Amino acid sequence: MTGASPATAPRAGRTGIRLVRVPNGRVGAVAVHEVAETVADHPRAVLGVATGSTPLELYAALARRRTHGLRTDAMTLVALDEYVGLGGDDPRDYATYVRRTIATPLGIPDDRVHVPSGTTDADAAAFEHGIAGMGGVDLQILGIGRNGHIGFNEPGADAASRTRIVSLDEVTRRANAEHFDGDLDAVPTHAITQGVGTILDARRILLLAAGRGKAAALRAALTGPVSAEVPASYLQRHPAVVVIADDDACEELE
Ligand code: F6R
Repeated sequence: MTGASPATAPRAGRTGIRLVRVPNGRVGAVAVHEVAETVADHPRAVLGVATGSTPLELYAALARRRTHGLRTDAMTLVALDEYVGLGGDDPRDYATYVRRTIATPLGIPDDRVHVPSGTTDADAAAFEHGIAGMGGVDLQILGIGRNGHIGFNEPGADAASRTRIVSLDEVTRRANAEHFDGDLDAVPTHAITQGVGTILDARRILLLAAGRGKAAALRAALTGPVSAEVPASYLQRHPAVVVIADDDACEELE
């Protein structure tokens, strides 16, 4: 990877995780190298995308790369999750986020943008079927919740879980209330999310973490036991994970 700060490798030889620690404010600027490399090598790559605050700078940096000649418009995008219960044209739903923040700036047409939706097992199965039909995810971008969630796989999620409807943890709803004018009651109680097993099927995973609020979760995910209580710890079982984390998020790592 170019442009990265010196990398450290926690538990080297024991997991497939490589940690890249970067100064605060530099997560997106460093992560873009990793994604741009994949896209340059495979313009038709299937990119798994997280929503939320952490990857915003990465997506903006990727769009800037496009204006400098990186071909991004042949990619397919697959989102991790979506709220249940917001109206179709609600600006806070993740389909809107993915279209506005990623697909449009990268020139990716709607028919290659896949966001889970619906409320039934059949909807979830159809989404899984869709991912299989496109040959799987080449590179999955993830954020991490304060409670260690990935996607909306909250504490207690099974390692083998697939796309399904879940209830959102109180910690998650409080964290996301900032996108609902601070009104906790307005934050949906349920979501449809890729499962842990679905996420681990991706060929490569790029986990981004920024801020002091993620430090405990990151420590537990990288150095704690693999446990349902910290769904991000399941990443220790994946052979090809890069974690890009800022100094604040690394505060509790040795
Ligand atoms: C979003 C998602 C979540 C977020 C996580 C961190 O699609 O699946 O797991 O990645 O909640 O969110 P931010 O980046 O807003 O702190």
